[in-house]
Amino acid sequence: MLPKINPTTTQAWLLLRKHFEDEMRHAKVKELFAQDGDRFQKFSLKFDDILFDYSKNIINQKTLHLLLQLAEDCNLKDAIAAMFDGEKINETEDRSVLHTALRNFSGNPIYSDGKDVMQEVHRVQAQMKAFCEKVHSGDWKGYTGKKIKYIVNIGIGGSDLGPVMVTEALKPYWSHGIHPYFVSNVDGTHIAETFPLINPEETIFLIASKTFTTQETMTNAHTAREWFLQTAKDEKHIAKHFVALSTNEKEVSKFGIDTANMFEFWDWVGGRYSLWSAIGLSIALTIGYDNFEALLKGAYKTDEYFKSTPFDKNISVIMALVGLWYTNFFKSQTEVILPYDQYLHRFSAYFQQGNMESNGKHVDRKGGEVSYSTGPVIWGEPGTNGQHAFYQLIHQGTVIIPADFIAPAISHNPLGDHHNKLLSNFFAQTEALMNGKTEAVVKEELKEQGKSDEDIKKIAPFKVFEGNKPTNSILLKKITPESLGELIALYEHKIFVQGIIWNIFSFDQWGVELGKQLAGKILPELADDAAITTHDSSTNGLINAYKELRK
Ligand code: F6P
Repeated sequence: MLPKINPTTTQAWLLLRKHFEDEMRHAKVKELFAQDGDRFQKFSLKFDDILFDYSKNIINQKTLHLLLQLAEDCNLKDAIAAMFDGEKINETEDRSVLHTALRNFSGNPIYSDGKDVMQEVHRVQAQMKAFCEKVHSGDWKGYTGKKIKYIVNIGIGGSDLGPVMVTEALKPYWSHGIHPYFVSNVDGTHIAETFPLINPEETIFLIASKTFTTQETMTNAHTAREWFLQTAKDEKHIAKHFVALSTNEKEVSKFGIDTANMFEFWDWVGGRYSLWSAIGLSIALTIGYDNFEALLKGAYKTDEYFKSTPFDKNISVIMALVGLWYTNFFKSQTEVILPYDQYLHRFSAYFQQGNMESNGKHVDRKGGEVSYSTGPVIWGEPGTNGQHAFYQLIHQGTVIIPADFIAPAISHNPLGDHHNKLLSNFFAQTEALMNGKTEAVVKEELKEQGKSDEDIKKIAPFKVFEGNKPTNSILLKKITPESLGELIALYEHKIFVQGIIWNIFSFDQWGVELGKQLAGKILPELADDAAITTHDSSTNGLINAYKELRK
């Protein structure tokens, strides 16, 4: 069981509020640097080849001390132990939360419901490895005897975003001769645009769904099946071309997939934490099982680090606390993740689900309404593209947007001076966001450009940057399967820590149910052209307009 402590009733919270009002609300990071030559050393951490610099935040030693106190007051230590020990911390679904078991290389058992889950984990991992070897070696043949060239993962949400993000991030590690595609949207366009790129004789469809009942995925899976049978003709060929990644054996059989071709996972793996499970089969097929294992090992390293590192040296804990400082005291509403690495172009989208499905909750662990903000809106795009799109608002808008900047020191594509240029932007942006540009400097610059006093007076206000915009910088050596595993797990644990302190349940997602239920009710109403009157006037009006327009 998790502690059920309202964070706002802790002593640390009260002290943080006072500290914020009295000392930090108007503090300037630039000045904090000027006062302390060791600020970078004091406010940066290293884990393996990852440097986490959080010195450009509006915090001082006292802030940190009080935030760490808050973590203690909210019993974070016990909560971490409860998760790793397989306690049913997902109370609203009565489940353990054990994605960490999927990357447990300690050799120690992990229990859920009194049963060691590691045997099952190893069984499926061995099945995945054997399958990858067969596909890569050509032993696994399509129904006409051809080697498999195309992998199509059909899944959505957690059964899509992780595999997409990781395969894209690890493109330099792709196995020769295999090309993955991902179909998620129920919009027929997604699968229709995929069919011309593949060939039924050389394709394996991975139907990735924890529940195997998700409308979008099952619709796409049936469409893929029909498309395949148009060429293959005989249902007996399905066994060579369709496999299931799921927890639901019954539904998998019902679909017509032989359960021998099912890669199982379990209800203690949350959808958005499932890339480490059988849901990662598309990753393993794309980058090879050894690289998939390296990804798991990276995450395992982080797990061990997260469990054993004191909170004041613990990157996930510090990330969580600093984020919470802005959400709950500075009242920021969003956080932006900015990877300076083209291969990480889906990283923000991945953690958009990770964060927002986990911590987008307004009911606390006692079932009452929270009186404070919980999960922020997460968004982002790769730098430097973002610089030319939305950074304007981060620099000069009216809201505070804490930003994570992520970059590798070594590029997989060291072309000319591209990487130095990319990294010069990475460094420059966090510096600019912190320092801003004063009116005096702006005026001086305009003067040097030969502008008249009148022009200077007119233009100067628009060119002033107030600065003091908080950033974290995460500098990695290189994006490899292992370092990516480490990085993902660092962010996963950040989300966990925040959920614990906000006193919410981070591992359910009831909020996505209502829309699904209503869509189920509306679908039959769209079958014919009869006017609908069963909803509010807006919904009726829209449905009826749709029926007219589609004629
Ligand atoms: O969007 C809700 C959700 O349940 C996600 O949490 C999950 O990742 C996704 O749907 C897909 O679910 P499934 O794997 O069961 O198809």
